[in-house]
Amino acid sequence: MISTDRAAAVELLRKGDLVALPTETVYGLAAHALNPIAVAKIFEAKERPRFDPLIVHLPNRDWLRRIAELPSSDRQLILELADKFWPGPFTMVLPKCGIVPEIVTSGLNTVAVRFSAHPVFAEIVGEFDEPLAAPSANRFGRVSPTTAQHVMDELGGRISMIVDAGPTEHGIESTIVAVQDGAIAILRRGPIIAEQLSEFAEVISVVGTSRISSPGQLPSHYAPKTPLRLVDNAEEFHPQENHCVGLLAWSSAARKPQAFAAVRILSDRGDLREAAANLFRYLRELDALGLDLIVAERVPSRGLGAAITDRLERASHR
Ligand code: TXA
Ligand code: MG
Repeated sequence: MISTDRAAAVELLRKGDLVALPTETVYGLAAHALNPIAVAKIFEAKERPRFDPLIVHLPNRDWLRRIAELPSSDRQLILELADKFWPGPFTMVLPKCGIVPEIVTSGLNTVAVRFSAHPVFAEIVGEFDEPLAAPSANRFGRVSPTTAQHVMDELGGRISMIVDAGPTEHGIESTIVAVQDGAIAILRRGPIIAEQLSEFAEVISVVGTSRISSPGQLPSHYAPKTPLRLVDNAEEFHPQENHCVGLLAWSSAARKPQAFAAVRILSDRGDLREAAANLFRYLRELDALGLDLIVAERVPSRGLGAAITDRLERASHR
């Protein structure tokens, strides 16, 4: 089931089966994007509501024009962004072409497109030579998987194969933007940050606004089963007596780590990249311990910190 056999993965995708694949962000659950029956299996396996559209992953840059319309007013900006950030952890929401099945976009007239840089993903989608619809390979509303074993824990028995390429590099999902009227709207924060995008056009953040056009923006997305509380500083948190509390610390353990039943430190060198890469794995590990509460420390808001905080806020919302 967990395997490294890329040729077998391509075979299964051709048959319309589901295969979990590594990307540079998180593991994805892939199906042939132009085969609606194959895509329907994704919703079934993830127990994902039909209204939640999927990202289409391209085999190469040339596929962009076959999947998405490039409005003449925004064409240059879209192509500049593609040149700069593809392949990579970057997704653009664009007007869709007719060949994209309704089930992929949940009936929207836009489609989310991405071109992954992961060598194993790139090899498989390149060999397959058709676009792959792939959401994160977790059950709906749960933490995204960053290892093959996480996928196994979430979806084992429901899918044909998991291709293992070790832990993912970024650990959080791709940045999603919509390009509209010469501006870039950030729909989901991720590894490509606002500062990088603002070199190209005006950047508007619509993350966390009431304009929910993507369930990744729902307040309670990415929730562990254990209640999670977000605090500014773990030093100031005092666990209730007889309460089993886990700590997800930013860069150093609290002065009294013995007050916590388990401690995970996102990055002891205070590196936001490392913190992002560890985030979902540690949440998952703490969630498996049967704790009464997980206390998570806020991370600095600079750079990738905003994307990490977004996920922590959602994990704490219930
Ligand atoms: O890094 C990633 O993006 C990973 C890897 C596997 O590629 N994929 C991923 O997919 O995170 P998923 O399905 O878990 O999250 C995609 C988000 C969802 O919140 C979905 O609602 C939004 O993208 N989305 C998809 N199509 C959209 C569209 N046409 N308009 C607005 N949001 C869209
Ligand atoms: Mg997801």
